[in-house]
Amino acid sequence: MTQAHDAPLDSSRDGAPVLELRGITKFYGAVRALTDVDLTVAAGEAVALVGDNGAGKSTLIKVVSGVEQPAAGGILFEGRPVTVTGAQDAATLGIATVYQDLALCDNLDVVANLFLGRERVRGGPPGVVGWMAESEMERRAVDLLDTLAVRLPDVRMPVASLSGGQRQSVAIARSLLGEPKVVLLDEPTAALGVAQTAQVLDMVVRLKQRGHAVVVISHNLADVFAVCDRVVVLRHGRNNGSFVVAEATPEMVVAAITGADAGSGTGARAGRRVGLPAGHAQDAVKDLGGDES
Ligand SMILES: Nc1ncnc2c1ncn2[C@@H]1O[C@H](COP(=O)(O)OP(=O)(O)O)[C@@H](O)[C@H]1O
Ligand SMILES: [Mg+2]
Repeated sequence: MTQAHDAPLDSSRDGAPVLELRGITKFYGAVRALTDVDLTVAAGEAVALVGDNGAGKSTLIKVVSGVEQPAAGGILFEGRPVTVTGAQDAATLGIATVYQDLALCDNLDVVANLFLGRERVRGGPPGVVGWMAESEMERRAVDLLDTLAVRLPDVRMPVASLSGGQRQSVAIARSLLGEPKVVLLDEPTAALGVAQTAQVLDMVVRLKQRGHAVVVISHNLADVFAVCDRVVVLRHGRNNGSFVVAEATPEMVVAAITGADAGSGTGARAGRRVGLPAGHAQDAVKDLGGDES
């Protein structure tokens, strides 16, 4: 198995990746969404997954989170081959996903949203309807939001009255209640303004500090370069480059996204880089930079 192009690149980082995808291939009917895709992420590391619309980013996240099954390829979790055939498998392993639509209940308050589906019942199994330890849930909610430096006016506010950044923060905090080792974020800042984006990026840093392995999909390379350690590029469902952020430029990443040839930059870890006409990179920088939709 050749993993050279996507191996953990910092030799000072301890140990094996928490999550390793090898040769993931996925079809939707006749559509080949992913072909032989590799990805690794280690504890305390944030890997950005980038690529144009339709590149296969969300599909890859769905394969890891058990929503979709790959036609070929394997998933290693803490070095062991695993199958993830549903959301429950992912949760049991310690893989949490925050999807773009967040799935928060607007009419419920922050505490209720955090514990939705896992209401705590003293002495009973999780999820059983009965007397819920409201005060305990509220205390844990406040503690959790505190450690993540999420500032909310009141945890008893309905989430409908929160800002987009605060809602995203609540969704991320909720994903942490199961103490996951891996956190997958699908476009967490796509709908946010500048200040709210900063709030969410700060959370990504805190996830790393807490030792989570983070995979974050983003269209915004400024965000990616601000908080991620590595960037993995997908193009037409294939790996098209992997970069160490400290050694790469946004232009190099854009070239990999668009298929333009950026030359042989030192930080480029071009796995299976395909040669395509140059000249799209500048447009793409513009497009990506302006993406707040
Ligand atoms: N449920 C689906 N049914 C059929 N095709 C799909 C489905 N989901 C995604 N695709 C296709 O798979 C490819 C990858 O999509 P996706 O993973 O959503 O890309 P990205 O998240 O990078 O924009 C695209 O060609 C898309 O049209
Ligand atoms: Mg997507």
